[in-house]
Amino acid sequence: MSKYEGRWSVVKVDVEEGIAWVTLNRPEKRNAMSPQLNREMIDILETLELDDDVQVLVLTGAGESWSAGMDLKEYFRETDGKSDVFQEKMRRDCSQWQWKLLRFYNKATIAMVNGWCFGGAFSPLVACDLAIAADEAVFGLSEINWGIPPGNLVSKAVADTMGHRAALYYVMTGETWTGKQAAEMGLVNKSVPRAQLRDEVKALAGKLLEKNPAVLRYAKHGFKRCRELNWEQNEDYLYAKVDQSNGRDPEQGRAKGLKQFLDDKTIKPGLQSYKR
Ligand code: COA
Repeated sequence: MSKYEGRWSVVKVDVEEGIAWVTLNRPEKRNAMSPQLNREMIDILETLELDDDVQVLVLTGAGESWSAGMDLKEYFRETDGKSDVFQEKMRRDCSQWQWKLLRFYNKATIAMVNGWCFGGAFSPLVACDLAIAADEAVFGLSEINWGIPPGNLVSKAVADTMGHRAALYYVMTGETWTGKQAAEMGLVNKSVPRAQLRDEVKALAGKLLEKNPAVLRYAKHGFKRCRELNWEQNEDYLYAKVDQSNGRDPEQGRAKGLKQFLDDKTIKPGLQSYKR
C-alpha cells in the first residue's frame, strides 16, 4: 500500500523506487482542474518536495485524459459573481502549483501525457522539466472554442515551447494536434504508443535517478532562468549556480567526476556519468 494512499481525494500519489507518480484523478471529468484539485496539488507538491523517498515526480492523468484544462463548471461558472478577493485567491492557487511550484521544483519533473490535454493544462505541461506523450494524445488550445482567450500562463507556456506561427495558429483556430505532432514541434520530448508510455517514462526517470540530484537541480534552474536574462545577467547568474552547486552538493560530484576522468581514467564524461 502506498504511504499516501487516500490522503488526497482528487489526486492519487504512489511512490515507488524514487519516483512519485502523481495522477490527476477525476477521470469522469477528464481530470479537469477544479479549485479543490488546485488546492490538493499545492499540498502534494510541497509534501513530495520534502519527501526523501522522492527524487523524480511524474505528473499524469487517470483514464483517457491527461487534463481537460480548467474545470469550466467549478472553476468558471460556479465562481462567477464571487468576490474579487475570492477570485484572486482561486487564481493564485491555480498559478501556485501549475507553474510557480512546478517550474522551479527542487526535484526533476516529467509530464506523462496519456490523453487529452487542453487549455489550462498547458501551464503544468510546460512547467514540468520534460514531457513524454502518447502518440494518441490530443492537444488543443480550445479556449477560443468556448469564448475566452487563453488565460493563466498558457500563452506564455506555448510561446516558450512552440514556434511563433504554430502557437498562434492553434491559439486562433482551436484545432487539435496529436502527441506525435507535439513531439515534432518540440512541445514534448518524445511520443510513443500509449501502451509503451509508462515504461518509456520509467526509463527516463531511471536515467535522472542516476544523476547527482543537487547538480541536476542547479542545472535545470539555471537553464530555465536563462530565457529571461540578458547575456551579462546570465553570466552572473549561471556562475552563481555553478558555485552554489559546488558549495551545496553533499556528494561533491565535481571532485569525483574530475578524479574519475583525469586521475583514475575510469570514465569519459562525454559518454557516461561519473560513478556516484
Ligand atoms: N471542465 C468541466 N467539465 C469537463 C471538462 C472541463 N474542462 N472537460 C470535460 N468535462 C466533463 C464533461 O462536462 C462531462 O461531464 P458530465 O459527465 O457531467 O456531463 C465529463 O467531463 C465527460 O466529458 P465528455 O465531454 O462527455 O467527454 P469526451 O471524452 O467525449 O470528450 C473532451 C473529452 C476533453 C474532448 C471534452 O470533454 C472537452 O472538450 N472538454 C473541454 C476541454 C476544454 O475546452 N478545456 C479548456 C479549459 S481551459
